[in-house]
Amino acid sequence: MRSTDCTTWIGLLYVIGIVSVQPARCRSEKEQLMTLQNRTETAGTQEIFPQIEARIDAIPGYKEASQQIADTIHSAVLDGGPAARNAADLLHGTWLGHPLHPVLTDIPIGSWTLAALFDGLEAVTGNHYAGRVADTLIGVGAAAAVPTALAGIADYSAIKQDSTSLAAAHGALNSVGLGLYLLSLNERRRGRRGRGRLFGALAFGLVTLSAGMGGDLVYRKRVGVNHAPEPAGPTEWIDALSLNELQIGAARRVDVEGEAVLLYRPDANLVRAISAICNHAGGPLEEGNFKNGCVECPWHQSVFDLSDGHAVHGPATMPQPTYATRVRNGQIQVQLGRGAEYFESLGNVRTRTIGE
Ligand code: FES
Repeated sequence: MRSTDCTTWIGLLYVIGIVSVQPARCRSEKEQLMTLQNRTETAGTQEIFPQIEARIDAIPGYKEASQQIADTIHSAVLDGGPAARNAADLLHGTWLGHPLHPVLTDIPIGSWTLAALFDGLEAVTGNHYAGRVADTLIGVGAAAAVPTALAGIADYSAIKQDSTSLAAAHGALNSVGLGLYLLSLNERRRGRRGRGRLFGALAFGLVTLSAGMGGDLVYRKRVGVNHAPEPAGPTEWIDALSLNELQIGAARRVDVEGEAVLLYRPDANLVRAISAICNHAGGPLEEGNFKNGCVECPWHQSVFDLSDGHAVHGPATMPQPTYATRVRNGQIQVQLGRGAEYFESLGNVRTRTIGE
C-alpha cells in the first residue's frame, strides 16, 4: 500500500472517530423526553400478556361471564358433598402439598414440543419414521391434556377474581389447541400427512401462547403461589393479646411485630395461633368459619387444621403457618419463629399453653 493511501485511510478513520465519539454533555429536555417515550414503548412490548388481558377484558360481558362460570363450578363442588370435594382436592393437589395443574402441564407441553420437532424432521427429510414418532407424541399429549385440563378447571373455579378472565382465555386457547391436535391426528390417520402437520403446527402455536399465559398467571398474577408469610421471626415470646380479650370459642386477628396472627381459643386451656392470611390467595381467615378444630377461609372455602396448619380441603395446597403459643401473666404470647409443633414436641400442649 502506498503512503498516500495510508494517510487517506488514517485521516478518514480520524474523522469518523471525531464524529462518532461525542464529548459527554447533558441531554436537552427534548432528548430526555424522547428517551422516556422510547422506554415506555419498549416496556409496552415486554408486557404482552397484560395487553392481551386488557383486550379480552374489554369484550362486553366477557369478564362477568368468566367469573360466573368459575362461581358455578365452585358452588357445584361445595354443594356436591364429600365425593365432589375430595375429587376437587385431588385435582387441586391438596394431597400433594403443591398445585397439581402445573405438574401435569409438563406432559402435554413436552410431548407436543417434541412432536413439532419430529414433524419438522419428516417435512424436511421425508423420514416416515419421524412422522410416526410425531403421531405417537401428539396422542400422548392429547391423552395427558385431559387430566391436566380437569386440574386447571378445578383451580379456575376458585381463582382470584382479578385473574378469572385471563384464566378463562388460557383454558379456551388450550381447548382449541387440543381440538386442532385431534383434527391433526385424524388427518394423519387418513394419510393426509401434510394437512395433519399443518393442524399440528397451528395447535402448537396456540398451546405455546396459552402456556405463556399460564406462566403469566403464576408469575404476574400470583395464582397458585403461597400468599402466607414465611414463618421466620424471632424465637422469643412476644405479647399478642390479653387472655381476657379472647373469649372461649372466639377468634381474633392481632398484629404481632407486623405479622397478621389469628388467635383462636377452642377451650379454656388452649390458644391456637395461625397466620391470618390464607396462603391460597390472601383471604382473611379471622372472618372464616371455625368448626371441629379447623378454620374455613371465607373466600374460596379452603379448610385448615388449626393445630398444625395442614390443608384439610383445597383449593389451598400448602400448610398454613402456625405459631407456638403460651400464656404468661394473663397475656397470650406467641413465637413468630416457631410453629405450633414446637409445643407438641414438648409434650402436653394444653398444660404448656395455659399455665405458669
Ligand atoms: S383465599 Fe382462597 S381459600 Fe383462602
